[in-house]
Formats: sequence, C-alpha cells, structure tokens
Amino acid sequence: MLNFDFTEEQLMIQQSARDYAQRELIKDVIERDTRAIFPTQHVKVLTELGFMGMMTNTKYDGGGMDTVSYVLALEEISKVDSSVAVIISVNNSLVCYEIEEFGTEEQKEKFLKPLARGEKLGAFLLSEPEAGSDATSQRTIAIDMGDHYLVNGVKNWITNGNSASTYILIAQTNKEKGHKGINALIVDRNAPGITLGPHEDKMGMRSSDTHSVMFADVKVPKENRLGDEGMGFKIAMKTLEGGRIGIAAQALGIAQGAYERALKYSKERKAFGTEIINHQAIAFKLAEMHTRIEAAKYFTLKSAWLKDQGRPYGTASAMAKYWAAETAMYVTTEAVQIHGGYGYVKEYHVERLMRDAKLTQIYEGTSEIQQIIIARAIMND
Ligand code: CAA
Repeated sequence: MLNFDFTEEQLMIQQSARDYAQRELIKDVIERDTRAIFPTQHVKVLTELGFMGMMTNTKYDGGGMDTVSYVLALEEISKVDSSVAVIISVNNSLVCYEIEEFGTEEQKEKFLKPLARGEKLGAFLLSEPEAGSDATSQRTIAIDMGDHYLVNGVKNWITNGNSASTYILIAQTNKEKGHKGINALIVDRNAPGITLGPHEDKMGMRSSDTHSVMFADVKVPKENRLGDEGMGFKIAMKTLEGGRIGIAAQALGIAQGAYERALKYSKERKAFGTEIINHQAIAFKLAEMHTRIEAAKYFTLKSAWLKDQGRPYGTASAMAKYWAAETAMYVTTEAVQIHGGYGYVKEYHVERLMRDAKLTQIYEGTSEIQQIIIARAIMND
C-alpha cells in the first residue's frame, strides 16, 4: 500500500508550526540573524507548544509524536528561521532520542524528562578540532577512574554549546581499542572544569549558538555512561541516522521558503513589459527548483516513515540529507538570482536562506560523508 496522505494529527502539528513561524518568527528574524541573538523567547513558546521533546514517549514527558510530524514541523519553522529549527532538532534527535534509546530508566528519569519537557536544552559533543568527518579519531579522553571518568579535551562546533544544560559527550576511554574504546557520557554543563570558547561568528544560522567546549579534569559519574562500555561510537552513529532526518527537513524548509519567495517575486516583478515569470529563463528556473524540492520532500518523508515503521533508515536518511542539502543550496542560489539586486540585500530574506543552506551541506555529516554512506550501502546490494 502506498499512501501520500497525512493524518489529521500530522496536519495539525504542521499547521501549528506554520502559524507560529509565519506569525511570530518572521517578525524579528532579520535582526536575530544580523546581531546573532539566541531566540530565547521563541524557544520558550515552542517549548509550551510541545516542540522541544516532540518525539519522546509521553511516558518520559515528551509529545509522543511520530517522525513524519517532526519533519513537517521542522520544515515549516525552517521556511522562516532555520536557526530555531536546529535548536529543536539537536534537542529532539541528538539528545532526547539518544537517552531514550540507549539510557537506563534512572537516566531517563533524571535527564530525559527535563529535556523532553523543554526545561533543559541538550547538546551533542562529537566533533573536535581534528576529528570532524573522521569521527573515530577522537582525542578527547575519558579515563576510567573506577566510580567516574576523568575527561580532558576539546570539542568544537557545538550547537547549543552555551544554551544547553545537558551535554552528550563522545570521548575515547581506551585508545588501543579504536572506535570500540569510545564512550557516550551524559555531562552536566556546569560541572567543574568545563569552559566555553567564544560564540562562533558564523556565516549562517547565526542565531543558534555555536561554541567550542573545553574539558579540564572534568569528573563524570560512571552511572552517566550510555550503553555498555565501548559502545559510544555506535550510539553516536545510530543517533546521527535520525539527526540527519531532522537536517533534511530543515534543508527542505529552507529550499521551500526561498522557492515561495522567488515564485511570488516572479509574479510581481516586471521586466521587458511583462511579469518575469513569463520569461522562459525564469519559468524554467522555477520549474527546476520546484521539481528538486518535491524529490527532497519524498526522500525526507520516506526516511521518517521508515523510522516510524521500525525499519532500517540509515541509508534513506543519508540520501534525504544529501539531496535536501544540495537542493537547499541550489534553490536558494537561484532564488537570489531571480531577485537580482534585491536578492542580495537582507530585506528580501533569500540571501539569509542561502547562507543558512550552506550549513546543511556541512553539519551532521557533510554531503560527501552522506555519499560515503550511500556508496557503502549500494556496494553491499
Ligand atoms: N549505526 C551503528 N553503528 C555504525 C553505524 C551506524 N549508522 N555506522 C557505523 N557504525 C559502526 C560500524 O559498524 C563499525 O563497527 P564494527 O567495527 O564493530 O563493525 C564502527 O561503527 C566504525 O564504522 P566505520 O568502520 O564505518 O567507520 P569509519 O571510520 O569508516 O567512519 C563514517 C564512518 C560514516 C564516515 C563516520 O565517521 C561519520 O558518520 N562521520 C561523520 C561524522 C558526523 O556526522 N559528524 C557530525 C557532527 S554532529 C553535528 O553536526 C551536530 C550539530 O551540532 C548540528
């Protein structure tokens, strides 16, 4: 059976995200971007609307919504402000999911519930100055001291680095064992020995906060380890499979937002005696943008649906993230081109969407990393 219809509940969630984005997020998005202001008030309201832990089981104070709803919500929010979307995405996909899937009941009680209620925000600490795409070469060490781990090292490009209270830290405990010596630890951001680097002055997604995080002799209780000793790398990889659905949804929203603006502009702007949409050069651009977006939508929804069905979704989410990110970059660049000079100034939003799109090709695995994952999967076909 193939069914392209959404349920009533999915449509309600989509509408709620759309209403908030189009009514509230739009008002100050340019100022937040220009001045790199963290959207504290919006995160508060989106928490009340249930978006911060939307996929976590209601048993752990989450919204109990499915991944398809999550995609629809992130897409709507990203049409207007993808910085807000990434804050939601990291909390849901990389932190709440990880604790719900791999944590003990005690960990869920203590750490997941406040994160799912949105009282606390989470961050996922995998990347390092010398371990980005090559994620197994972790240099941050977590030495086993019996009842605790002693952590030293540096993490960087951490989304929610300052705003989060709960970190999930990936660190090497046994170097000789390679990736099988890596652990995933839940860390209190206020633990003694943690310091932050300055706010990164990014090209796009400027109102989400990104920092380096330094660990100097930080004690992490043993009971904060997720899963068995040495399972941290696999836990991180499995978590990123779902994270990539969130980033695909985000890229999809950026592309759709830019496309809608370009379409509207093309119907209003006149050149050579007619609206520019009547020029084939513009109409063909819009047709190409629309077609690529539709493909990105199907990839993204399919990966979400597979996850909801409990089927494998790692390759599907890599394809979704790859295609949606490439589409976001393509579509936003064309949207700026269609707007001409107006596209190059902030007031028309598309230059910001173009800057934001670039990051979707980089974080949670670059486009090239997604190609590696897809290539490895087809080699095994
Ligand atoms: N699920 C479970 N286990 C997995 C897995 C998955 N999806 N992918 C790999 N593994 C396991 C493998 O089975 C292997 O274990 P065994 O040896 O027991 O079989 C182990 O992990 C190592 O895997 P590989 O040999 O495939 O490792 P690799 O060195 O070739 O790297 C990679 C694989 C896919 C390239 C990986 O390093 C990768 O995904 N890199 C990108 C990292 C990334 O996405 N970083 C994003 C940072 S987070 C972020 O951006 C968040 C934010 O703030 C927004």
